[in-house]
Amino acid sequence: MKQIDISTAFTKYVPYNFAFVLSHDKNNKPSGMIVAWHMKVSHEPPLMAVSIYNTQNTKKLIEQSKEFVLAVPNKKQLEAISIFGENHGDKIDKFKISKIKTKKAKFLKTPLLSEATLNYECEVIKKIKAGDHTIFIGKVLATHHNENEKILLCYGKGKNGKRIFKEF
Ligand SMILES: Cc1cc2nc3c(=O)[nH]c(=O)nc-3n(C[C@H](O)[C@H](O)[C@H](O)COP(=O)(O)O)c2cc1C
Repeated sequence: MKQIDISTAFTKYVPYNFAFVLSHDKNNKPSGMIVAWHMKVSHEPPLMAVSIYNTQNTKKLIEQSKEFVLAVPNKKQLEAISIFGENHGDKIDKFKISKIKTKKAKFLKTPLLSEATLNYECEVIKKIKAGDHTIFIGKVLATHHNENEKILLCYGKGKNGKRIFKEF
């Protein structure tokens, strides 16, 4: 075993799961991004955490609305993953451009992704500064499942620099 630099070690920790994290602005217009850094953190109460780079537009939306939807994708959302994961919501309307299908949430103003495998409706109960990221902990208020769908994993980047996704 040899010591390697920290950023290389971060990229070698694959495959990883990831999700859409969605929220809305003061006019209830939704936007969001892709997040790999997220996890379940408590059964009772049910809590999930997402770690968001401080400059992301979605961070501002979650701070203001105090809610987010975590939507776990399958291959039907492949095109939308690059739109949501490579563009900033203050520059483009990601929902409009991707034409991604939505459904009204049970408790939140943020929409669900109707074709995603899982949707978690989360109400923010805590915000933690973590270096260049901010961690939001959300209480899960409702969950929704498309039981015939699988989950996408990311296997890192290929030699062409593009991310490799496979269903699990
Ligand atoms: C597979 C994948 C995983 C990502 N994981 C994260 C993450 O964990 N945290 C983060 O802040 N950005 C992550 N990003 C980058 C954001 O999704 C991206 O910068 C997005 O354009 C931010 O949009 P916004 O400014 O509208 O919020 C990821 C992108 C991809 C494609």
